[in-house]
This record gives sequence, structure tokens and C-alpha cells, in this order.
Amino acid sequence: MLTSLRGRLFIGLTAIIVLMGAVGGTFTYFWAYSEAIEMQDSVLIQIGSFALNASIRQSGLVNGVDADSEVAVVELGDAPRGSADDRRLWGLKDGLHNDVRQGQPVRVLLRTRPDGSRFAVTQRTEIRTEIAADMAIRTLLPIAALVPCLLLVTGLVIARSFRPMLRLAGNLDARQADDIGELTAAGAPSELQPFLGSINGLLERMRAMLEQQRRFIADAAHELRTPITALSLQAENLDPLEVAPPMRNRLDALKSGMRRTKHLLEQLLALARQDAAPAAASEAVQLDMIAKGVVADLLPEASARSIDLGFTMIEPVTVDGDPFAIVSAVRNLVENAVKFTPDGGNVDLGVYGEDGKAVIQIEDSGPGVPPQDLGRIGEPFFRGCQPSGEGSGLGLSIVKRIVDQCGGSILFENIAGTGRSGLRVTVKLPAADR
Ligand SMILES: Nc1ncnc2c1ncn2[C@@H]1O[C@H](COP(=O)(O)OP(=O)(O)OP(=O)(O)O)[C@@H](O)[C@H]1O
Ligand SMILES: [Mg+2]
Repeated sequence: MLTSLRGRLFIGLTAIIVLMGAVGGTFTYFWAYSEAIEMQDSVLIQIGSFALNASIRQSGLVNGVDADSEVAVVELGDAPRGSADDRRLWGLKDGLHNDVRQGQPVRVLLRTRPDGSRFAVTQRTEIRTEIAADMAIRTLLPIAALVPCLLLVTGLVIARSFRPMLRLAGNLDARQADDIGELTAAGAPSELQPFLGSINGLLERMRAMLEQQRRFIADAAHELRTPITALSLQAENLDPLEVAPPMRNRLDALKSGMRRTKHLLEQLLALARQDAAPAAASEAVQLDMIAKGVVADLLPEASARSIDLGFTMIEPVTVDGDPFAIVSAVRNLVENAVKFTPDGGNVDLGVYGEDGKAVIQIEDSGPGVPPQDLGRIGEPFFRGCQPSGEGSGLGLSIVKRIVDQCGGSILFENIAGTGRSGLRVTVKLPAADR
């Protein structure tokens, strides 16, 4: 059973067109054939009328008619004589008959002149049918040409009619995994509208559900922040106290656990905020100044680990966006670079303009990201197949969403070169025109 609507339509219409062509063709053929036979009879009758009044009476092929048609006049005289064929002809009445001459079937017209002499106009039946079939076949040519044309047009019309459906499916396929915006109904045929309505209803429900989920995460993170801060403070308060070394170890473990939890909550909140905001107050932001600020913030940590953190290139470039979000994105990227670079390594930043884009590039001398992880490091909570160091795995998801909201792009690539390793992250944002 054919499941494609297009295939079914095409096969159905093809069958109808071919059937109509065959039936129409057969009728036309036989009709044209019998007309051609009649026409040849009337040629015999016309020649008979000429021969009736002709002054020269002579048997032989008639000139002036198509030579192939082999129309002949046979003078029979005024009494039966000559060959057996001639004598049999004499025996026939005036008019059209089918007869045999020299063993071959012929069509004959017999006429008698006023003076009593008779003659016959003859034509071989085989030639007549040949001519008639030839003429009938020629009437089929237009039908034979029309059928493929009709099939072609039908195919084109069907393909065209289904194009909006394919376009719609293409649009859906091309969507980002998290794009659940409404499908546009403009230009879609009316038969598709109910279907589109249902899909849009479903998307609407999904949006509401995601929004609910996001709000729940944001609320939960927010609610948890206060007690965790209070707990951290309590733990810090224990610091100055004189305690036994095993106790000190547990206290340190407790404090680092608190720090990690706090970090996770901060990241969760930042992610939920990014998901919520349809780009909060957008303004002109100086990307180079932001990068400088972030580097200045992280410099103490970097120099404590002898990491050379600095710029290889810095140009003033401006982008449109939410300044807090952009700070958060740059910070997450530089933090990663510092975090994953071993002590004594390098983290180099470049900030510059290129083809109407503001570019920030961060290179580190860490281990880079295993190729199989490269495509996944932007997923929430993904920290690589073999996680190392501390972290919630949310940093790059936050960065990705911020970059998306600014209409920019982000590229992660491992630095390949002799004796070099590390990750290069390139973020391109549309530069603001000042
Ligand atoms: N510069 C880098 N060098 C090597 N691996 C990296 C680098 N940046 C990111 N990664 C890998 O990508 C993973 C995801 O990074 P992401 O910033 O999202 O999470 P995180 O740094 O582990 O946690 P968080 O940023 O929330 O503290 C990291 O766990 C790490 O495996
Ligand atoms: Mg990170």
C-alpha cells in the first residue's frame, strides 16, 4: 500500500490519463480508418464519373491519382470477353463490389456507358487498407504527444502543490533543538491550517511547561541561596577557633562543599535568568573594557598559580547587549581557561573587530577538550567524559545562551601545533554601529 499522498495522486492521475488516451486513441483510430476507406470509395466513384465521359477508352493505371494508390480502369467492352476475371466482372451489377483479380482481393466500381459498353475502376484491397491505416495512425499523433505532456504537467502541479508542506517540514527540521517558537502559517495552503494550528497549540503548551520549569529552578536556587549563605557564614565563624587537626580537615571539606553548592546555585540562577530574559535592556557595551575588567578580577588567582594571563591584542569594539550578561559570558570563558590551565601556563585574550563583528578570542595552554566532547561541552551539566577540576558544568550553557541572544556565534577548537595544546574559544558578536 502506497503511503505517500503525492505518489498516490500521481499514480491515480497517470492511470486516468493513460486510460483516457488509450480509449480515445482506439476510437479515433477506428473512426479515422473507416473514414479513409469511405474516402477511397468516393475517389473510385469520381474516377468512374470521369471515365464515363472520357473520349479515350483505354485500360490501365489512372494518372493524376497518387501513384501508390494503384487505381486502374478496366475496359470491359459491350459483351463479356477476355480473361476469366474480366468475364466475372462483366457479371457484376453497376456499383461498388469486393472482388478478386489475379488472385488478389480488390475493390471495384462497375459502370455502364449510355452506348452499352462497360468498364470497371479497380483498386487492390491491400493498398486501400494500407493507406487507411496510415491515415488513421496519423490522427493518433496529437493524442500520443498530448499524453506525455499531460503527465509532465500533472507531475509538476502535484510537486508544486506539495511544496509548502515540504517547506514547512524543512523549517521544522532546520530548527535549533531548543527553538519552540510558533510555526508561521503564512503561505501554507488552507488544508494545512488545522494541522499547523494543532502543532502551534502543542508548541504553546511546551513553552508554558518550560517556562514553569525554568521559574521553578530559579525560585528553588533563589530560596536555597539564603540558607547556604548563612551556613557558609557559620562555617567561616568556626575558622578562628582553635581545633584539632582532624577537625580542621573536616571543616575545610565542609567549607569547600559550601563553596561548590553556592557556585552551583549562582550558575543555576544565571542560567534560569538567561532563559527568561528576552534580551533585557540592550545597550552599547564596550567589549574591550569588559574583557579588561574580567582579566583584572581573575589576575590574583592566575598569578597565585603562576599563570600568565593577558592580552595579545586589544582594540576598542562595541556590541549591543545586556552588560551584565556579557560580563558573565566573558567571565565564564576566562575562568574556564584559567581553571583548566596547569600552573605556570598561559591564557591569552584577543579582542578586535572583524567584518562588522566584535570578536573575543581566548586561548589557553591547558589540555584542550577531547574531540568527542567538543560538540557537547555547551550542554547543561556536561563536564566531559572524564570530568576534572571543580565546576557545575553550567558555565558554557550560560555563555551559549547569552551569545545566542546577542545574535552571535561561538566556536570551540583545540589548538593544534607542535608542542602546543589548549582550547581556543572564539566568540563573534554583531558590532554595534556607532
Ligand atoms: N578551557 C578549557 N580547557 C579544557 N576543557 C574545558 C575548557 N573549558 C571548558 N572545558 C570543558 O567543558 C566542560 C564544561 O565547561 P563549563 O564551563 O560549562 O562547566 P564547568 O567549568 O565544569 O562548570 P562551571 O563553569 O559551572 O563552574 C568543563 O567541565 C571542561 O570539561
Ligand atoms: Mg566553567
